[in-house]
Amino acid sequence: MPAGVDRTAGARRAAALLADHPRVLHAQVDVEAGDAGRGRLVARLTPRPVSTGGAERVAHLQSMYELLYSKTDAPADPAFDVLGWVSSYDGAQMDPAALHEWVDLTVASVLASRPARVIELGCGTGLLMSRIAPHCERYWATDFSVAALRRARRAVPEVAVARRVRLLQRHADDLTGLPGDVDGVVINSVVQYFPDLDYLRRVLSGAVHAVRPGGTVWVGDVRSLPLHEVFHASVVTATSPDAEPAARAAAVLRRLAFDQELVIDPAFFTGLVEELPGVAGVEVRPKPAVHRNELSMFRYDVLLHVGERAAVVDVPWEDADAYATPGALRDRLATDRPDILAVTGIPDALVAPAVSDWEAIRRGTPTRPWCTGPAPEDATAHRLTRLADGLPYRLRLGLTAGRTDGAFDAVWVRQPGPVLWSIAVPTGPARGPLSNRMPPGPPSSDELAAYLRPWLAPDLIPNAFIWQVAPG
Ligand SMILES: C[S@@+](CC[C@H](N)C(=O)[O-])C[C@H]1O[C@@H](n2cnc3c(N)ncnc32)[C@H](O)[C@@H]1O
Repeated sequence: MPAGVDRTAGARRAAALLADHPRVLHAQVDVEAGDAGRGRLVARLTPRPVSTGGAERVAHLQSMYELLYSKTDAPADPAFDVLGWVSSYDGAQMDPAALHEWVDLTVASVLASRPARVIELGCGTGLLMSRIAPHCERYWATDFSVAALRRARRAVPEVAVARRVRLLQRHADDLTGLPGDVDGVVINSVVQYFPDLDYLRRVLSGAVHAVRPGGTVWVGDVRSLPLHEVFHASVVTATSPDAEPAARAAAVLRRLAFDQELVIDPAFFTGLVEELPGVAGVEVRPKPAVHRNELSMFRYDVLLHVGERAAVVDVPWEDADAYATPGALRDRLATDRPDILAVTGIPDALVAPAVSDWEAIRRGTPTRPWCTGPAPEDATAHRLTRLADGLPYRLRLGLTAGRTDGAFDAVWVRQPGPVLWSIAVPTGPARGPLSNRMPPGPPSSDELAAYLRPWLAPDLIPNAFIWQVAPG
């Protein structure tokens, strides 16, 4: 048999073996012109989509929440039913004062646009609903837990408010029976329980479709991927303050590996302007809290503005290094009265001690536990929101893209000025994965060669493996 025929048969055999690989949907191996008249074998592969175990995870969490919310202990105040809000630092109930502040800030942010018709996905015990629904004409609240909905019903005892509220058992990606023209969809402290970004995309796509142009999808309390390591380091330091830095670093890696929740880079949300039809603009905001806790330091809020893509307004951005203190920023506004003052990279004093603690652990130098308690009267999101009090400015506050220390972007616009969210913010360097739960990538060429080796002669192992989206 001529060598060429032999090689063609070998290529067919390699393709059949590759098609049996669990990560391969379709395989083709071609003999292409190669050195010294010998054909080069080139494998072209289409990946088989992989599941991240999403359905099992959602089912597991649903039964976990059902169990949690079925606890009979009735809260003293049904409108402040904080069952399940426990601190990662000591496993105890979170400080009620900090939780009250967090709820109030969230509610104020949602009500700022005066929505009349609202859908809430994952409403839990009705912490937000009981405060937002009284200001609305209609409020649809869903949760996958029946026990949650029972508790949420108790959170709105006033008949007049209860009449405006409709509670429905639904998974977050199921909007059947819900209206398609509301002013806002609220998804607060829920997305960390989604199995992966694909599930989140599905939920957000449904939410954007349910909102009329000009309305908002409000995604709150998102766990921050840029601060993921700092968060776990802060827990390790708080729980094992006497451990050596190396032991603490190892504990941080263990905690990162075992963290089952979805932790997301803000770049995922800013990218939705390009990815999700109907998203006109995106804002990523820190919570302007006074209390220093895991919610105020390591989580952020997102607003998806729904409608036609707006023209982006470019403004000149200055570096925060040009200003020694937040007071210097106020002086500039009060004295120079610029139309726009846009400053990027303002360090966050709230999270700064935790950031330097993690840096010290990585350097292997001993550290002291970072302090909890009230934040210093320094550059915090709260301080920045008050900086221009009494001056004719509106503020857009965001997180600086690409930074792993929680730094802020702030742009003060002299009234009336452009729509705040249409202002272009600096884009950071690309940072790699957008979440901590990415499906595994396709196997490498070395792994595929090793897979074929027991079955094929060495010269029939393809010289190149090329991944393509669809069979060529
Ligand atoms: C931490 S609680 C937040 C409750 C409420 N949004 C708030 O801010 O107070 C999370 C809620 O999301 C619900 N949840 C989690 N994953 C969900 C999913 N895939 N579909 C529907 N509800 C979900 C849980 O049952 C729980 O009530």
